[in-house]
Amino acid sequence: MYSKEELQNGLTTFIFGKKIFTYDSIDSTNTCAKTLASAGAEEGAVVIAEYQTAGRGRLGRTWQAESGSNLLFSTIIRPKLEINKTGLLPFFAAVGAAQALEVVTGEHFECKWPNDILINGKKCCGILLESSFQNNVLDYAVIGMGVNVNQKVFDGEIKDRATSLSRECGKEFDRRDVFHQIMTSLELLYSEVKIGNFTITLNEWKSRTTIFGKQITITQAGERLQGHAVTLSADGGLVLETPAGHRVCYAGDVIFTKES
Ligand code: BTN
Repeated sequence: MYSKEELQNGLTTFIFGKKIFTYDSIDSTNTCAKTLASAGAEEGAVVIAEYQTAGRGRLGRTWQAESGSNLLFSTIIRPKLEINKTGLLPFFAAVGAAQALEVVTGEHFECKWPNDILINGKKCCGILLESSFQNNVLDYAVIGMGVNVNQKVFDGEIKDRATSLSRECGKEFDRRDVFHQIMTSLELLYSEVKIGNFTITLNEWKSRTTIFGKQITITQAGERLQGHAVTLSADGGLVLETPAGHRVCYAGDVIFTKES
């Protein structure tokens, strides 16, 4: 793993990455960041690892990433948000990542609900946001990001859906540059987000999604819901127009359904 000094050299942020914990191997950077946050670690602290033995994805899935090729990190935030706005934080993380990857590669990145980042229709970055509350107030949130940077081969069930920056752009990237840019993009958006203003974040997210107006199916835990994606609700849900009226979804996987 890069040393803390190698990661901080050239980093111009004041919050994100000011404190960095590095590991060659760890169970999950999110699990570690949650432990640190519970013990009082400061906002912007980062846990980054070369390899995860128990990397976690959304909906109880695992996140697998080859050692030495990718970025696997988690960062802690402590915005003073009303509880109904915490559901918007994944959009902040997704937009920060998409903007950063665009700066580094010059390519366009799409935001897929709820918080995947795609390039050329394939996923190159996954985000797992975990929040902790005390007395109905957000204590901290951990933003975990897995960015496929230079990995060339993807096997198994993700074979056709996953890709990396390197595969799509035909060149290798310095992972420190990608890390620096993500820290910078998050910090730029965060000044508004931390005071509860998500206008810029949501406008950016909406400009990067292709979901609205489409007929989609959302699956979660064996349940399926079909409808037209209409908009985002004020608390971050996806509003679907279904034959039974409007429904709001907060988690699941989206597939585009062919209109008959
Ligand atoms: C998903 O797309 O399902 C989210 C994947 C999130 C993976 C990252 S890798 C770094 C951090 N640590 C984890 O255990 N998960 C997140």
